Amino acid sequence: MTEPTFTTSQTGTPIPSDQHSLTTGPDGITALHDRFLVEKLASFNRERVPERNPHAKGGGAFGRFVVTEDVSRFTKAAVFQPGSEVETLLRFSSVAGEQGSPDTWRDVRGFALRFYTTEGNYDIVGNNTPVFFIRDAIKFPDFIHSQKRTGASGLRDADMQWDFWTLSPESAHQVTYLMGERGLPRSWRHMNGYGSHTFSWVNGEGEQFWVKYHFKSRQGVEAMSNEEAQHLAGTDADYYRRDLFEAIEREEFPVWDLFVQVMPYEEGKTYRFNPFDITKTWSHADYPLIKVGELTLDRNPQNFFAEIEQAAFSPSNLVPGIGISPDKMLMGRVFAYPDAQRYRIGANYNQLPVNMPHAAEVRNYQHEGQMRYHYAPATMPVHATNSVGGPAADGARAGEVSWETDGALVRAAQTLRSDDSDFGQAGTLYRDVFDEGQKAAFLETLKGQGAGITVPEIRERFFWYWGQVDAGLGEQLRAALSA
Ligand code: HEM
Repeated sequence: MTEPTFTTSQTGTPIPSDQHSLTTGPDGITALHDRFLVEKLASFNRERVPERNPHAKGGGAFGRFVVTEDVSRFTKAAVFQPGSEVETLLRFSSVAGEQGSPDTWRDVRGFALRFYTTEGNYDIVGNNTPVFFIRDAIKFPDFIHSQKRTGASGLRDADMQWDFWTLSPESAHQVTYLMGERGLPRSWRHMNGYGSHTFSWVNGEGEQFWVKYHFKSRQGVEAMSNEEAQHLAGTDADYYRRDLFEAIEREEFPVWDLFVQVMPYEEGKTYRFNPFDITKTWSHADYPLIKVGELTLDRNPQNFFAEIEQAAFSPSNLVPGIGISPDKMLMGRVFAYPDAQRYRIGANYNQLPVNMPHAAEVRNYQHEGQMRYHYAPATMPVHATNSVGGPAADGARAGEVSWETDGALVRAAQTLRSDDSDFGQAGTLYRDVFDEGQKAAFLETLKGQGAGITVPEIRERFFWYWGQVDAGLGEQLRAALSA
């Protein structure tokens, strides 16, 4: 803002006062026809949009993604071709808390990344862990309910959380991550990002691959202690949001290196872990990390609400050469996000500057609806197909990914492979990846969690659950909490 200037109404008329409403004398009643007062109060009343359910609390920044390697043998997506450089937007978040909740409550963190590509927007809406709590979308609302607040008291509740987790043993791998260091990152800059699901890539020859995304923080992966997190929750609820914003203002731009694990399509049929089960990782010995490029965040939003709150990331935002996979969570998410965003922001949310493509054009026959801003030229027909040369779908250009599927419609658990079990990879994470210090901190965190459980049946299941992850761990917890 430069020169001081005069205030106007929403329709551009100079307004008579920013400070005094229209009244019958200085001490009299307020006139309903004070259109300036009415407009200002009405606008204020409509400032809030529903918060995201889940991932309400977050922050983000814009940046650049640069491809440094050649992965064109795996995908034809323009965004990943050698030398490609695209604008990006990354939003970090906590899962369970509300918009005003403290950043440093223990939680999984969201890592939602948008690439504004020449073939349309591509979003990877991931987390700071490579796995997830459940493997079927039908359980997601119950999972989130159990992490948020009870119906009666409106309080968060350890009984409810552990009741859900221990009755959903497929959660063990992710809960092991959550109760370890990943649950309390030092900052958003000090965590990795993962696509978590398996996605598909198709190359120029039509050959298909399964891929997993890993964004490795160049700042390092660092955590904070329970004590520090609790202290910050009371003294600086916006600790992570502040850290990111201030780092970028200081021009200390955070960087992540993007790697992928790539599995040939046919191997997906027989791999020892079901590769479409988001509770599992792929062994790095079987599928080593392959570098793709670098992501840098270098620009803070100009306006938090317009650019971060109204940002609408979705796993359904895909580009030619990239697709989903037969992962039941991912298929559910493709529906859930745009549906949530139509409700949260409005029918034409993709026309907002942060959501519209920045490097591609929109051309289709969708029109009208609430708050429609862009419209087609008068010469453009409103129906497809048409005989006046309007745009027509080009299947080859769309590069849609496909896979084989057959069988009767059933409601059944995902097929297990030879090495699949709910607790196996969780046990490996605890025993073979955590060092001694991390194991000790993990045990302390679990003792604190177990102490919060008041229902004996749930506490018994808590011992059983951790005993399945690691027999010694189960015994240590029982001894500590029964004393
Ligand atoms: C079937 C399972 C899931 C469903 C139904 C679901 C649903 C949702 C919904 C409705 C939102 C709010 C979207 C908005 O209002 O803009 C959301 C946000 C989010 N979800 Fe999920 N989710 C699921 C699983 C996952 C998984 C597996 C991950 C990570 C691997 C994830 C990561 C995120 C992130 C990062 C956000 C915040 C996006 C942002 O920053 O705007 N979700 N989810």
